[in-house]
Amino acid sequence: MEVSSTIAEFRRTREKLVGSVGFVPTMGYLHEGHLSLVRQARRENDRIVVSIFVNPAQFGPQEDFAQYPRDTKQDLNLLEKEGADVVFMPLVKDMYPTHFSTWVDVEGVAARLEGAVRPGHFRGVATVVAKLFNIVKPYRAYFGQKDAQQAVVIRRMVSDLNMDLKVLVAPTVRELNGLAMSSRNIYLSSTERQSATILWRSLCLAKQLWERGEQDAEHLRVEMTKLIQKERLAHIDYISIAEPETLEELAKIEGSALVSLAVRIGKTRLIDNILLEES
Ligand code: PAF
Repeated sequence: MEVSSTIAEFRRTREKLVGSVGFVPTMGYLHEGHLSLVRQARRENDRIVVSIFVNPAQFGPQEDFAQYPRDTKQDLNLLEKEGADVVFMPLVKDMYPTHFSTWVDVEGVAARLEGAVRPGHFRGVATVVAKLFNIVKPYRAYFGQKDAQQAVVIRRMVSDLNMDLKVLVAPTVRELNGLAMSSRNIYLSSTERQSATILWRSLCLAKQLWERGEQDAEHLRVEMTKLIQKERLAHIDYISIAEPETLEELAKIEGSALVSLAVRIGKTRLIDNILLEES
C-alpha cells in the first residue's frame, strides 16, 4: 500500500494505476462503515484509493474541527488489511493554499436540513469532494447512506458539472442495537450510547406506521417526536420526511420518502435516516 501526503506525490502514483479506480473519501478515524465502503470498492474495481483528510472547510466556527478524532496509525493498519492500494493524506495547506478562492455551491438540496443548521457545511463538502475527484480521477466513488443529504448533494454536483464518474451509495452500517456507526460516537458516554439508539428506534417506528398504510407525513413526525421525547437525554434538531432527490418536505407519502433526523444526545449531535420505498 502506498501513502501519498502531497498532491504532486499522489499524482505520480496515480499515473501508475492501471484499470478502474474505486475511491473512498474519508475524514479518517475509520470504522466498519468506512471499511464496508472499501470492501465494496475492492469488489467492484481494479484499484482502490482512500483519502484521509479532515476538511476544515466543512466545519463551522463553533464545530469540532480541532477535536475531531484522528488516529492515522490505526487507519493505515486497517486500510492495509482491507487491501487499499493507495492512501492519499494531503495537508490542509496543500488543499487550501494561500489565495484559495474557488468554491462549489450546490443550491436547493444543500440549503435544507443539515445545510440550514450548519451554514457553509455543504459548500465545504462539495468543494473538497470536487477537488478530490479532480486529483484522484476515480471511475467510481463510494459514500455512505448514513450521510444521506451529503450523497444527494454530491450526486447533484456530479450531474450538474458533468463530472465523469459514478457515485455509489452504500447502506448504513449499524451496531447490534441499531446505532449508526459514526466517528462522532466516540464522544458518547455509555449511558448516552444507549440513549442514542432512540434515533434508529424512531426511524423504525416511522417505517412500521408507513408499512401499515400511514401516508400522512405529519402523523409520522408527531409519533417520532413523541417517542424521542420520552428519552431524557435526547433533544430533537429536526425530523424530516422528504422527497429523496429534491429533499422537499412531503405532506403525503405517495412514492418513496427519506425520513431523516438530527438529535442531540447530551453535547453530541447525531444524524440518521431511513428510506421508505416500495419494494
Ligand atoms: O463523509 C465524510 O467523511 C466527508 O464529508 C467527506 C465526504 C470525506 C468530505 O470531507
